[in-house]
Amino acid sequence: MKGVLLAGGTGSRLRPITHTGPKQLVPVANKPVLEYAIEDFKEAGVTQIGVVLGNKGRKEIQELLGDGSKYDVDITYIIQGEPLGLAHAAGCARDFVGDDDFVMYLGDNILNSGITDLVESFQNGEYGAGIALQKVDNPQAFGIADVDEAGNVTELIEKPDDPPTNLALIGMYVFSPAVFGAIDELEPSWRGELEITDAIQSLLEDGYEIDSHVVTGWWKDTGKPEDILEANRLVLEDTELDTAGTVEDGAEVDGRIELAESATIEDGAVVRGPVSIAADVTIKAGTYVGPYTSIGADSTLENIHIENSVVIGESELTASGRIVDSLLGRNADVESADELLPEGRRLVVGENSQLKL
Ligand code: G1P
Repeated sequence: MKGVLLAGGTGSRLRPITHTGPKQLVPVANKPVLEYAIEDFKEAGVTQIGVVLGNKGRKEIQELLGDGSKYDVDITYIIQGEPLGLAHAAGCARDFVGDDDFVMYLGDNILNSGITDLVESFQNGEYGAGIALQKVDNPQAFGIADVDEAGNVTELIEKPDDPPTNLALIGMYVFSPAVFGAIDELEPSWRGELEITDAIQSLLEDGYEIDSHVVTGWWKDTGKPEDILEANRLVLEDTELDTAGTVEDGAEVDGRIELAESATIEDGAVVRGPVSIAADVTIKAGTYVGPYTSIGADSTLENIHIENSVVIGESELTASGRIVDSLLGRNADVESADELLPEGRRLVVGENSQLKL
């Protein structure tokens, strides 16, 4: 069993964050989303992993993952180039996969139960594909599976107008190499992409059985800023957090806090977990860091109140205001204006930013 990790795509729904980097490297609880997938592969015993790269962020992704040795896995890079769909990306992995079965994992997805059950169940039967499903509130936005009373998959439809069920295909799939034949026959969908959902439907029509699992733990497609915040909240809730850094006398700290060894919470600061604070961060007097916040490396916070937010890193947050439900890109600063006049907020805001003042 090999692994194919998809790390292409444009990340348009995460702009402006993705103007300067790939969506798969946005951190959740101070760890790039992509690393969660690598850990899930490893846990399921899948150590030969092909990472499919798009045009965006190839260098950054290769710099992070390297040859995989730091995770005890073996990584091969595959270039997809233009994002022509998930089935196109899978097709690019054909030479890497050879005659093996493979698990495909969308690199911007994160789930708490891992992929071991999905892989084992597929291996225990004779299937063309194995899919993971979860009930969603907005089935029009996903690939949807129809199942009969015995739980057998009877139809798969990508983003249906009139969904037969609310069971969405989530971003993890297992395939036999038969899928490559199905991909060869695909026509682009209305959005101009080769859809993996259509490839699985075609396997079904060719008489292959499809194994399916309803995943009960949480799963998040981190496509939008609010998804990053929710994934951050879910991971902080679930993970053991270790306070290795310095908490000065006079700092008020409660709840679970991950504090990197080189990070400091100074006298007069208040931090309420669950919170993750990365390396070389200083939380100074007058600052309040509230639950479900991750502060990325090399940041300084002073006076500010922040909660339920993700700060990617290298930020100076020194304004005496409240920041909630926010995603701040690398090197974003939030400072107080020194001048009293003209009164107002002074902004340098990138394309596609969203401010709620
Ligand atoms: C893709 C798939 C869809 C699946 C979803 C899971 O959608 O096409 O079938 O349900 O991922 O996140 P996209 O993110 O491309 O809209």
